[in-house]
Amino acid sequence: MQNKQLKLAARPNGMFKASDFNLVVETVPELSDGQVLVQVIYLSLDPTQRIWAQTDSYLPAVKIGATMRSFGLGVVQQSKNDHFNEGDIVSGMTGWQDYLVSDGKGLEKLPRIPGVPLDAYMGPLGMTGITAYYGLLDIAAPQTGETLVVSGAAGAVGSIVCQIGKLKNLRVVGIAGSDDKLEWLTTELGVDAGINYKTENVYKALRKAAPNGVDIYFENVGGALLDVVLTQLNIGARIPLCGYISAYTATEQTPGIQNLSVLISKRAKIQGFLVLDYYDRALEAVQEMASWMAQGKLSYKTDIRQGLEHTPTIINDLFTGGNTGKLLVQVSPEPS
Ligand SMILES: NC(=O)c1ccc[n+]([C@@H]2O[C@H](COP(=O)([O-])OP(=O)(O)OC[C@H]3O[C@@H](n4cnc5c(N)ncnc54)[C@H](OP(=O)(O)O)[C@@H]3O)[C@@H](O)[C@H]2O)c1
Repeated sequence: MQNKQLKLAARPNGMFKASDFNLVVETVPELSDGQVLVQVIYLSLDPTQRIWAQTDSYLPAVKIGATMRSFGLGVVQQSKNDHFNEGDIVSGMTGWQDYLVSDGKGLEKLPRIPGVPLDAYMGPLGMTGITAYYGLLDIAAPQTGETLVVSGAAGAVGSIVCQIGKLKNLRVVGIAGSDDKLEWLTTELGVDAGINYKTENVYKALRKAAPNGVDIYFENVGGALLDVVLTQLNIGARIPLCGYISAYTATEQTPGIQNLSVLISKRAKIQGFLVLDYYDRALEAVQEMASWMAQGKLSYKTDIRQGLEHTPTIINDLFTGGNTGKLLVQVSPEPS
């Protein structure tokens, strides 16, 4: 059995380039006792992978020559581990490859629930959904009637934040980079108002979309957008700092934030967080979101591309806005 793998060949500079990776084919080794063989089905493409490829952060940088680190979902093909059986669906750090040989640590068995497609475990019922859930409900503690502004609103995290905001009776304003994305947010997801940051004056548009000011700003982007939204915060506003994607591919130092002192007069808080710190509470979030999905109150989009070998260029769509909803690469078919 042959395993195609994408190994990191060079530290990226700016966007990923195909030459930042080597496509290597290796024979899958025989399993030892305690090991499982997982055939990868979906790879989760995440902005944080750009950080992992470049530098030490909350996880060490991926080593040059190592298989690119990635969340993923797959099916157990063979097992010499008592906790896993052939046919189990699992998620975990699969890496950018067709097959993973693992001792089972960090692999999570996923339930097959009728009506829940497998790709949901890579979106609302997976890492990005849990990020949205706790980033909004725990860090921002929303109160009925408040105004929530979400950047990266049509992405994997943002689109779930917007919907949880509506479920919690907030006025929700989504900021995204195309009219099609805003159309999806406002007509299908119930978002109250949308702002296209690429074509509109965000300051003026936000005055109109959030006439009572901003109580919560769920930040996925940072940079210029953060600077503008800061000017319209209400007293006691909260900013869950989830991501800062505007800087991930920067090749030079990005400009500083001019309006940070607003936090003083508005007695406002900005708080970074990592979903990793919430994994012990993941089940609670997943159960509530699955129940919202079953009641038709929470929907999601996956943007599924094909072909492991194209992953190094597909991932750049996260940084140009080419994806809507959760970006995945499918490397093998779902089991029937
Ligand atoms: N803290 C945590 O634990 C945690 C966990 C998961 C994700 N995150 C962060 O959450 C954010 C969203 O991640 P995701 O997986 O849901 O990705 P995503 O939103 O599905 O995809 C990224 C989106 O960001 C927007 N974008 C890219 N560059 C931008 C820029 N310069 N200015 C404005 N918008 C830009 C693009 O949409 P437009 O068309 O709207 O530009 C793009 O589609 C990222 O910052 C990520 O690092 C944090």
